[in-house]
Amino acid sequence: MSRVYRVLVVGLGKRGKHHAVAFKNSPRFELAGISTRDPARLAKAAAELGSPRASTDPLGLAREVKPDVFCFCTPPTVRRELIEVGIESKAALIAYEKPMALSMNEAIAIRTAVREAGVKTVVSHQHRYGRHYQKVAETIASGALGRVHTVYGHSVGWMLHLFTHLVDYVRWYNGNAAAEWVMGQAAGRGKLSDEHPSPDHVAGIIHFANGVRGYVESGAGAPDVPEVDYWWRKNRIGAQGTDGFAEVLTGTGWRAVTSRGAQSGEGCMNYDLDMPPYVEDMARWLDDDRQVHPCHGESAYQGFEITMAVLRSVVERGQVTLPLGPGEPELEALAKALPARPVRLSIEASRKEYPSAAR
Ligand SMILES: NC(=O)c1ccc[n+]([C@@H]2O[C@H](COP(=O)([O-])OP(=O)(O)OC[C@H]3O[C@@H](n4cnc5c(N)ncnc54)[C@H](O)[C@@H]3O)[C@@H](O)[C@H]2O)c1
Repeated sequence: MSRVYRVLVVGLGKRGKHHAVAFKNSPRFELAGISTRDPARLAKAAAELGSPRASTDPLGLAREVKPDVFCFCTPPTVRRELIEVGIESKAALIAYEKPMALSMNEAIAIRTAVREAGVKTVVSHQHRYGRHYQKVAETIASGALGRVHTVYGHSVGWMLHLFTHLVDYVRWYNGNAAAEWVMGQAAGRGKLSDEHPSPDHVAGIIHFANGVRGYVESGAGAPDVPEVDYWWRKNRIGAQGTDGFAEVLTGTGWRAVTSRGAQSGEGCMNYDLDMPPYVEDMARWLDDDRQVHPCHGESAYQGFEITMAVLRSVVERGQVTLPLGPGEPELEALAKALPARPVRLSIEASRKEYPSAAR
């Protein structure tokens, strides 16, 4: 009999509910507790989730429930304090949402705290469980592209929603090679005050230690993916090699052209399909230290570091060498440096999300 792990989920908005349902439906977990700030939302969620223990006080509940997995799905402004609650709960694994932090200083503090506590962490870049994402990874791993020289990803959604997703998959498609330096540029102040604070448009060049070049871009000026209707899924991530390319479109399948010819297939980002294997990989990692979760915290840290290096490059100019140490919080520094010029849109369909864009 496999061990059943007790889980506490904090934050019960869209993603908290996805997580709570996935844990509840998995035979490997018991949804032992839920917590969020709003008592009415908490009561409603408890009724929907089979009445686990519920409280508006995450720390009090953690002490009561003694979870194996402490999971939180809160806005990006709420990270460090819930990591501390997770550590205090003595959970063996903390699972939380991207982006892992709002600055390099915070990411460093989180990494240090979880390392000292000896707790595993997983950050939710779960798109990779999509069969179309997997198909591209398999095509690259099969050698069908020859020598991979370029990896790329772009989204019309803004940076703190999507850039770390893109970097995570680009790193995966490049065998998780380390990044040596990064150079970036950004435009538009409209989203600096958003709940996911970001420049309206940002682009980064990544030089990986294995010589592969990465290009990642998010926001108002990023290219359209006309094959995809749903705006948030207008993302394209792929790899090019000496013998061809393979790429995934978040909202509609994958395609590849290699020496074997042109191929394509279906697939669409789908929380109902991606969440069950994502949480089950947590049970596997808890069972066996060697079965490290594909979305482990150190991988998220590497991706977040690339993201913050792009912002540092915008502010400081030029190439930024990794690894990064502590520094001025990147988004605050960016707010001082970005000119007031309105961002230019790549497609008119983005105007509803970037109302301050140039006409
Ligand atoms: N991985 C993905 O595919 C994906 C998709 C969407 C959102 N996200 C990320 O998930 C996170 C949450 O997004 P969402 O769409 O679920 O947001 P949401 O606004 O729907 O829910 C956030 C929840 O957190 C609660 N909360 C806020 N502060 C809290 C605190 N201090 N203590 C306890 N609860 C608190 C809120 O009351 C709310 O219930 C964000 O970081 C977002 O970037 C990830």
